[in-house]
Amino acid sequence: MFPPPRAPTGDASIRSTDNDAAVARLSAVQKHYFEDPYIRHFVPRAHLVPHRPPLINIGTYVRSAGIDTLIDQWLSIAGEAGKRCQIISLGAGSDTRFWRIAAGHLTDNLKTYIEVDFPEITTKKAMAIRKSKELMSGLGDAGNVSLAQGGTALHSPRYHLLPTDLRVDPSETLEPLLCSSTNDDDPPLLDPSMPTLLLFECVLAYMPPSSSSRLLEWFVNLIKTNPDGVLGCVVYEMFGLDDAFGRVMINNLSERNITLPGVGAYPTIESLPNRFIHTGFKAARALTLKDIRKNYIASEELERISQLEFLDETEELDLVLAHYAISWGLLLINTDIGAIWGKWGLIKQD
Ligand SMILES: C[S@@+](CC[C@H](N)C(=O)[O-])C[C@H]1O[C@@H](n2cnc3c(N)ncnc32)[C@H](O)[C@@H]1O
Repeated sequence: MFPPPRAPTGDASIRSTDNDAAVARLSAVQKHYFEDPYIRHFVPRAHLVPHRPPLINIGTYVRSAGIDTLIDQWLSIAGEAGKRCQIISLGAGSDTRFWRIAAGHLTDNLKTYIEVDFPEITTKKAMAIRKSKELMSGLGDAGNVSLAQGGTALHSPRYHLLPTDLRVDPSETLEPLLCSSTNDDDPPLLDPSMPTLLLFECVLAYMPPSSSSRLLEWFVNLIKTNPDGVLGCVVYEMFGLDDAFGRVMINNLSERNITLPGVGAYPTIESLPNRFIHTGFKAARALTLKDIRKNYIASEELERISQLEFLDETEELDLVLAHYAISWGLLLINTDIGAIWGKWGLIKQD
């Protein structure tokens, strides 16, 4: 008999959560909750991976629907403001969002998409991209796609994949990567004059709150250097784990050597917007997935997904969804453009 496999330790255990997220997404796609033709390229032997339970698929659906809406609105409002925008996904893992935007109707409103994760994850992602014709074609002409930093980074005209530990001070890590030119002909990757959206999808829980705050403050200070700067940020996270449900989740994760140093700082739905206000954003909101499912998704969509799988435990679904939230914050340096950007946010459905 072989001994059971040991759980990874330290940062390897944090990195293992990327596979959980990708498998959950693949499962929801295979059960027709939403479409994502790209995710299978990031899950080894995708056709053999077992489906996740209905409750998890519904959670993945609600999370994606909420975040997709905020990002589509951002692209659309940027277009209305006569600008193209840049999106930076921090702890992006195997996310496929760039390819979905590139193939979608708002593609022309996107100037730059940057993904950041640990080098082990970016190396794996860069290899998966290079192996897939479908992913490569989303990046444009293959001649303009190049690996860098020993294969841990990948660059193309619009999409950039960068290796970094987000806990390290951004002035040492992100600043050289995003704000300096690699040669005289190329401008820095980040342009503070463009509407800039940060995305942290299930990432900040794994980082100490001091590192998360430092990261947000660094972006706020960068955008403040431009008189017309616009900065948005979307965070998806678990919260309120100081109850029976939370203790079970924490115990399950600790068996995999995963801890959640980031979840205690903003423990209630009311406190979550403070993450933004404390770091210099001017407006912020937070909604639980439970609330988003009940009030922010069109009734036809709710009806459609209710037909996909049988779910007998609606109370359990509500309990789980009440422990996850999508929150978003906005900073406008020139408040005259408030009428345009003030529209950004999830809208209640009738
Ligand atoms: C749960 S996964 C989410 C992946 C992706 N955002 C999604 O929602 O599909 C968390 C990701 O955050 C990354 N991550 C966590 N802490 C990080 C850190 N300190 N530096 C860089 N990446 C980090 C992990 O490597 C992993 O890819």
